[in-house]
Amino acid sequence: MDKIYVSGGTPLAGTVRISGSKNSSLAIMAGALLGEGPSILRNVPNIGDIHTMVEMLQAIGIGVEWSSDGVLKIDATELRAREAPYELVKRMRASFSVLGPMLARVGAARVAMPGGCAIGARPVDYHVKGLMALGARIHIEHGFVEAEADGLSGNCIYLDFPSAGATTHLMTAAALAEGVTTIENAAAEPEVIDLADFLTKMGARVEGAGSKKITIEGVQQLRGVEHTIIPDRIEAGTYALAAVATGGEVVLDDVIPEHLKPLIAKLREAGAGIAPYGTSPDARCRMKVWCTARPRAVDVLAMPHPGFPTDLQQPIVAVLSLGEGTSVITDHVFENRFKYIAELQRMGADIRVESRSAIVKGVERLSGAEVSASDLRAGAALVIAGLAAKGQTAISGLEYLDRGYDSLVEKLSDLGAEIERYDVERTPLRLCAVS
Ligand code: EPZ
Repeated sequence: MDKIYVSGGTPLAGTVRISGSKNSSLAIMAGALLGEGPSILRNVPNIGDIHTMVEMLQAIGIGVEWSSDGVLKIDATELRAREAPYELVKRMRASFSVLGPMLARVGAARVAMPGGCAIGARPVDYHVKGLMALGARIHIEHGFVEAEADGLSGNCIYLDFPSAGATTHLMTAAALAEGVTTIENAAAEPEVIDLADFLTKMGARVEGAGSKKITIEGVQQLRGVEHTIIPDRIEAGTYALAAVATGGEVVLDDVIPEHLKPLIAKLREAGAGIAPYGTSPDARCRMKVWCTARPRAVDVLAMPHPGFPTDLQQPIVAVLSLGEGTSVITDHVFENRFKYIAELQRMGADIRVESRSAIVKGVERLSGAEVSASDLRAGAALVIAGLAAKGQTAISGLEYLDRGYDSLVEKLSDLGAEIERYDVERTPLRLCAVS
């Protein structure tokens, strides 16, 4: 079993290249199933969830070629399969979103229901109701969603909650439906806009992406196209928060400032600095983040975009556990996204959870400890805490971190962090006693 060992206290310094967006890549990989002909995706991150989605596409008979420089070729011309394997949907919820495109292309699909995970029950009722509104006949039995449709028909869909996954999933199904579909109370995340841009290039007619109402006029056929994935705003935010937690100064290379607005507001409120910092040699936008004093306490509401992203709720709690004063962080997106707090408490954080809120009383220093990640962003929070803590922290549960962070240890090491990854079975290590 691998563990990350990090010795805290070194202010991060330098430039970190931000990878392509995990969540945009996953939605667009599903959208590529709609295309007759190959799509070429660039700036795809080299992470576990992408490899799982590649496995999923291959399992349903799609030609996929992955090159390590982030270029993914997907040719869905011959899409014939009707069943997506349970073990892949169980491993990654996002693979459920192949259901709509399969239904739209071949008129039938059988996809396992995703289970819950460490951050909540995560049902798919909005997805199912939306597909039924488009004319799908759906039967749920033995943990599988079985769907059939003699062609999908446009309709009005209202989402009880602006679900990012349901929005992107239903956009792909509606793109080949006959007639016009409107998605009301739609998610407005940047990843929704990136998918809309990709579908439009394919020949789809999508209006309103990024607003609460998206209109899709179905077309007969879509073609494969080339597309470059937007940078990952959550990865960028993670490194920004790591810079603040360590009192460092970090340049984020390849960001879209518009996507970082909620975080920028909170960082400035906490007394950190964040500002545009020119462009990289390949003309990617840069921002510099710095923090010279202990962060001030701030309250945070994790909400659907343009609210503060729930995926940075856990990382910012790690930072605010060192804040000057008491912060209240409330997650209005996921009902159970505070499991990691017990691990931060083991490092000396003074936090109590009340319903959907974490009340964080900032302490001067955290202390290194053996901790375990329960989900992807919990892992990020523990790494950030370890980077700032006194002494050494050993983090297990790396199967979660590997799902969403490309070259995490290498990128942090390049920023000056004292961080290493070991297979503890082969190179057992003991935590150093804190001097
Ligand atoms: C996407 O998950 C992201 N994952 C999540 O990122 C992100 O936290 C989330 O959107 C919110 O922004 C991917 O894009 C692969 P939702 P998703 O549907 O689509 C409830 C990460 O760390 N809901 O917007 O699954 C749901 O339970 C991951 O990168 C229903 O009730 O999230 C939740 O409470 C974690 N019924 C709320 O809506 C449904 O049918 C928002 O979920 C669908 C969702």
